[in-house]
Amino acid sequence: MKKLALITGSKGGIGSAITEQLVKDGYRVIATYFTGNLVCAEQWFEEKQFSHDDVKLFELDVTNTEECLAKLPKLLEEEGTIDVLVNNAGITRDGLFKKMAPENWRAVIDTNLNSLFNVTQPLFAAMCEKGNCRVINISSVNGLKGQFGQTNYSAAKAGMIGFTKALAFEGARSGVTCNVVAPGYTATPMVEAMRPEVLESIKSEIPMKRLARPDEIASAVSYLASDAGAYISGETLSVNGGLYMN
Ligand code: CAA
Repeated sequence: MKKLALITGSKGGIGSAITEQLVKDGYRVIATYFTGNLVCAEQWFEEKQFSHDDVKLFELDVTNTEECLAKLPKLLEEEGTIDVLVNNAGITRDGLFKKMAPENWRAVIDTNLNSLFNVTQPLFAAMCEKGNCRVINISSVNGLKGQFGQTNYSAAKAGMIGFTKALAFEGARSGVTCNVVAPGYTATPMVEAMRPEVLESIKSEIPMKRLARPDEIASAVSYLASDAGAYISGETLSVNGGLYMN
């Protein structure tokens, strides 16, 4: 029987690459997509030529605590315990702090940080009971170093790291590892949406002088999910071309 992975925000730039990688690694993937986006999700499923054995589309608003509490235990009953949870869903609402609208603060904290509570809590007890499971949270180089115009995003992404380290303690006895992958600037629609001159100036600061490819982030997730990663917990694995060395 295939191991089971759940990936939030799975059709985004990095999420899609992680889904493809974990399918290659032999997992059945529960691929969550945001409320109302079924048509887009189905299109993505077709484009990637997934099979229904390998990937199940699952509508979930990760910011909605009640919805997660209602839907995720049912999913466990239908599919079994999640072996690998990848909290990947994330958004940006960049802007100077002095001009930041409260809704842009809240949207980013809700989607990027509060989602970790909403999605992980309904799944975690079963993971501990089963043992040898993985929680992998996708943070960012900007959660480690901060970034101009990203007080909301950097706060949420740094919060993910604290959450992960604390949860690593709670999972350790059961062999449930909790780790962070911290991508640098990656060639995804999120990064490509930046003003070209701002993106060019950031690229020039990356020692490797290029963006990450999404599959390079997915490889790090694959490693942490594998048996080879069983003794790594509470860690942050940076994949950032040398942009920030912590
Ligand atoms: N450090 C210091 N000052 C800076 C600066 C920096 N890094 N960047 C801009 N400034 C200055 C500008 O020179 C400008 O100064 P003047 O008013 O004296 O001209 C002032 O700050 C305002 O800057 P902008 O003109 O850029 O302001 P804006 O309101 O048009 O745009 C912004 C603000 C949207 C935040 C824009 O600066 C920006 O896009 N910054 C980059 C944010 C970023 O890196 N986002 C990453 C998105 S991808 C992602 O998040 C994925 C991941 O995990 C890596």
